[in-house]
Amino acid sequence: MKVYLETMGCQMNRLDSELLAGALRRAGHELVAGRREADVVLYNTCSVRDHAEQKVHSRLGADLRRKADSRRRITLGVLGCMAQRLGRELLRRYAALDIVAGPGQLAEVPAMIEAAAAGEQVCAVDPPRSARRGEADNGCDRLDVERDVSLAPQAGQAFVRIMAGCDKRCTYCVVPLVRGPECCRQPDRIVQEVRRLVDAGRTQVTLLGQTVNSYRWSSGETAVSFSDLLARVSAVGGLRRLKFVTSHPIDFRDDVLEAMRDLPGVCPYVHLPAQSGSDAVLRRMARRYSRRQYDELVDRCRAVVPEVVLASDFIVGFPGESEADHQASAELIRRSGFKNSFIFKYSPRPGTPAARLTDDVPTQVKRRRNNELLAVQEEVSLAHNAGCVGRQVEVLVEGPSPRAGKQASPPAPEGTQLVGRTRGDHIVVFDGPDKLTGRYVNVRICGATPLALLGERMQPLAEASGLEER
Ligand code: 5AD
Ligand code: SF4
Repeated sequence: MKVYLETMGCQMNRLDSELLAGALRRAGHELVAGRREADVVLYNTCSVRDHAEQKVHSRLGADLRRKADSRRRITLGVLGCMAQRLGRELLRRYAALDIVAGPGQLAEVPAMIEAAAAGEQVCAVDPPRSARRGEADNGCDRLDVERDVSLAPQAGQAFVRIMAGCDKRCTYCVVPLVRGPECCRQPDRIVQEVRRLVDAGRTQVTLLGQTVNSYRWSSGETAVSFSDLLARVSAVGGLRRLKFVTSHPIDFRDDVLEAMRDLPGVCPYVHLPAQSGSDAVLRRMARRYSRRQYDELVDRCRAVVPEVVLASDFIVGFPGESEADHQASAELIRRSGFKNSFIFKYSPRPGTPAARLTDDVPTQVKRRRNNELLAVQEEVSLAHNAGCVGRQVEVLVEGPSPRAGKQASPPAPEGTQLVGRTRGDHIVVFDGPDKLTGRYVNVRICGATPLALLGERMQPLAEASGLEER
């Protein structure tokens, strides 16, 4: 069958979809780019903010109308976090919906498509399994172990899940409800998957987890911490860059910074969501650290890994957030010098502890605070990026720039405008031929915007000597 699979939400969801796409291909289906030509339309959904869920409702409305009008049989499915959160409620609301599958049940989707084709309405949202550390097969990586490594969509790079779920229970967050408790994968399986990816030509791997640095595995006498895992993975021959997202400040100990300093493959980039700069708000969010502890962590990162690049997330308008709390967040952004921050307006999520607090910051105030933090971050980003001008950086080329032609870049002497990333996760825009996609090139930075570095490719030594740039 022709399957259209659309993905919303985070990096974890994108990886889930990549793995599911592999499973669907193995089951004989064809993935198509347009939902109008598809026999099966699947949405891998996100519940982290209401906005993400509303998008799915509006997509479904249109699909269901098409399904009713069409003579062809169309199978419709909602997968992922929203499927987990709403479960059978979705089937009650949309009688013509065929499939509902939570993030823990994606391995069953090919079989569910079969069942739906036979006219059944199927729903699989078993509560996520509890973490069972040390158990050889804890069931959280069924799709991962079957992965077809040749399918990773990004040239030269791939994402690898090291854990599922989350144990932190921040009061605003739906993730523990929909993805369940933390469940870490066996280190050997992770190393094996990275080995296979590298053998298939992927030289940058990003380890993924909701709180990736909380990773720990123990079995009998063996205990593997996150920094141990970094050491094991970075020892895979041929792996050139190892990144990881997202880190929780509370579990960020010096051994991880030391691994970053001492292991040549581990990239000096830390995505370290602060969420707020105010102690009162951090307490109500149950973030488990104070403003002072966060500041100290930033200082330690910079002391141990001087070239470290930091990024963050913030929520504005959390219940009870005062103007002074808001200013504390702005001040934290300035103090920390983040390369970038993702800034979100608070969205109450049913079933979370914060949903019991009054959502008392008016929408327009959330919007203003959102804009204010964006403006502060833009200034800080520009200053950070301007500090890179004049440097020579190694860039892994991702491909032609989607903004080609729109950016104020230096004149183009050759090829198209390419975009890639540094080891510190900076976006770099420069001119060069498409064939560099997936390769490493040296670029001299000659300009900066808040979003990107602008550069010029340097005479590649490897190319000059007839060797492949890799
Ligand atoms: N409302 C707004 N933003 C949220 N995030 C998580 N939950 C919510 C919510 N209820 C943000 C956090 C997190 C990012 C992935 O999404 O900043 O780090
Ligand atoms: Fe959205 Fe969270 Fe689910 Fe990712 S894990 S898709 S951010 S709800």
